[in-house]
Amino acid sequence: MAGLTDQPSTPMIAAGPEGIARAAALLQRGEVVAFPTETVYGLGADATNDRAVAKIFAVKDRPRFNPLIVHLADAAAAAPLVAMDMRARQLAELFWPGPLTLVLPRLPDAPVSLLASAGLDSLAVRVPAHPVARKVLAAAGLPVAAPSANRSGRVSPTDARHVLADLAGLIPLILAGGKCPIGLESTVLDLTTGSPTILRPGAVDRESLEAAIGPVAVDAPAAETEGQPKSPGRLARHYAPSVPLRLEAAEAGPEEALLAFGPDLRKGPLVRNLSDKGDLTEAAGNLFAMMRELDRPEVRAIAVAPIPEEGLGTAINDRLRRAACRP
Ligand code: TXA
Ligand code: MG
Repeated sequence: MAGLTDQPSTPMIAAGPEGIARAAALLQRGEVVAFPTETVYGLGADATNDRAVAKIFAVKDRPRFNPLIVHLADAAAAAPLVAMDMRARQLAELFWPGPLTLVLPRLPDAPVSLLASAGLDSLAVRVPAHPVARKVLAAAGLPVAAPSANRSGRVSPTDARHVLADLAGLIPLILAGGKCPIGLESTVLDLTTGSPTILRPGAVDRESLEAAIGPVAVDAPAAETEGQPKSPGRLARHYAPSVPLRLEAAEAGPEEALLAFGPDLRKGPLVRNLSDKGDLTEAAGNLFAMMRELDRPEVRAIAVAPIPEEGLGTAINDRLRRAACRP
């Protein structure tokens, strides 16, 4: 897997003060680390670092860029990232720290990688209750993007040994904290519209939410499958440039912007290179930001260079194809 730290073996260490300090230092250096939460083990990376977030997708081998949950040390850490309305503040007061994820409007200048939210204008945030997760987040001093710490297509790990079985050799550290007390992923509640909607059921049930904020709708398929979008209807809200994309382009034509990949001498205000080294992890980290930068009124189309269909290239191409097919 190009671009990943080569880990001949993955240490699984106890979540004492030393382990927590090591995990925090690795996160600050842009590495991915597995740690326990009260729901399932998470595979965390610095949410403000595009390349670190891209490594999560590489490690999980996800065929798609699904939006990730950003984990925070406390509710105050959400203020620079998302717009908290009355409902959000009330739910945070009642259920944080705990197994409730809130999907909220992302603030325009939120210092979070666009890849973490898959280019969406919303951002999922949660404050986990597990003491180890809280200590890691506090020590790192960063928002941490973390999906469940399993390879794509496998079930979520509720014990450090499950993480080891899935990710040995792929990550630099597993922080072991025993069994996850809940063992089921957090409830995901969408608060971006007037009617709060459960996107994924979890330990915080509908009745408890309704007792706090009134009627809550449920829009959740029976089971979560890794790599499959939870609610296909919501895909319409995924970011796509307003300008057409022309894929597998060898050249940019007149009035076309160019999204290049690999060594390329072309330069200019309408040229971006996903990775001039041809590194797919770097390319994934740049994808959403660069699509936005080239999405300008004076541009007729964005010509996109071919991306190899391997490793993270599969997810990049999936995203590009979906952005290219306009309604
Ligand atoms: O309990 C959990 O939530 C665990 C632990 C590690 O915190 N994390 C977890 O992450 O389950 P993941 O990536 O496996 O699931 C994230 C869920 C997905 O269903 C995803 O579609 C949804 O959250 N999600 C994230 N951001 C979203 C957004 N902006 N809009 C809608 N759904 C979002
Ligand atoms: Mg998962």
